[in-house]
Amino acid sequence: MENKLLELKDVRVKYHTLDYDVMAVNGVSLELNKGESLGLVGETGAGKTTLALSILGLLPKGVGEVYEGEIIFKGEDLLQVPEKRMRDIRGMHISMIFQDPMTSLNPVYTVGDQIAEVLQLHGNKHPDERVDEILGLVGIDPSRKVCYPHQFSGGMKQRIVIAMALACEPDLLLADEPTTALDVTIQAQVLAMIDDIQKKLGTSMILITHDLGVVAETCDKVAIMYAGEIVEYGTLHQVFDKTRPHHPYTVGLFGSIPDLSSDKRRLEPIYGMTPDPSDLPEGCYFSPRCNHCTELCKQKGAAIHVSEDGHMLKCHLFTQENKEAAE
Ligand SMILES: Nc1ncnc2c1ncn2[C@@H]1O[C@H](COP(=O)(O)OP(=O)(O)OP(=O)(O)O)[C@@H](O)[C@H]1O
Ligand code: SF4
Ligand SMILES: [Mg+2]
Repeated sequence: MENKLLELKDVRVKYHTLDYDVMAVNGVSLELNKGESLGLVGETGAGKTTLALSILGLLPKGVGEVYEGEIIFKGEDLLQVPEKRMRDIRGMHISMIFQDPMTSLNPVYTVGDQIAEVLQLHGNKHPDERVDEILGLVGIDPSRKVCYPHQFSGGMKQRIVIAMALACEPDLLLADEPTTALDVTIQAQVLAMIDDIQKKLGTSMILITHDLGVVAETCDKVAIMYAGEIVEYGTLHQVFDKTRPHHPYTVGLFGSIPDLSSDKRRLEPIYGMTPDPSDLPEGCYFSPRCNHCTELCKQKGAAIHVSEDGHMLKCHLFTQENKEAAE
């Protein structure tokens, strides 16, 4: 049985500005199976939101453009479907929790009406029962459907936004930093809830986050994104296994979070800044910050190495050419 839900093939996205192009996504390839969750991790500006907006066809018109690649969802290339078909796909098959959830709610309508509207848009003529059901699913008493957004706490508002995203039981949920605006205890609750519902409904998910701890709790696969590229990609086990080789950027990410099992007293931050996507460095994009950088890295974009069990690293360190150059 075909289990593949989403496949990105060499997706490239740029934003046109008056003076220059911003190369936000630079050749991303990924696969997601039904029911699977993928953590997309990277620093600010890495291109995570841009990638999610590209999947949904919601890049700003006339500014953002997927100029190369394919986004195959259930066998259909989303970059080729007409806007009318895309409108059906949004919400019904793919939905997104935006980075700033508070802006997703309309202050002048009750939350019940807002969830009902999503359902009606996708063909449910009698949504009342489903509104109650979906509020119950996110742990909000259905009697509160008559309340307005301002009558809820931040954590509850986030639950309502999640309820709206899941109302039509989409096949794929794109969750863009769904808990950054919440305090730490509520973050944990909301994440546990997303995880629970995602498993209950069999929804696949791309969870965008800066936080490797969140990924460890929630995801089956991990993609580490840097300057619009996936530099490491594998199962949760592969990416978190300290005994395996890793991309120098991933090593840096792990070095900048506390590890209670180690007696090291100091964290090791990644020095330097993410490159400006309108002026990317020659060769490997991580080269200006990398302790392992060689002449080859400065001249040639990093090569892809895939281990026998599918763990991908985009780095010259692991390729034959680099080994030969070092000899
Ligand atoms: N409308 C736009 N016009 C021009 N550049 C843009 C636009 N939107 C995003 N960018 C640029 O594209 C790059 C990628 O942005 P994106 O929002 O995808 O990053 P991100 O990984 O989601 O970051 P964060 O973690 O801060 O949310 C950034 O350099 C950003 O400045
Ligand atoms: S390709 Fe070279 S510069 Fe880039 S991450 Fe690997 S070792 Fe570092
Ligand atoms: Mg973002």
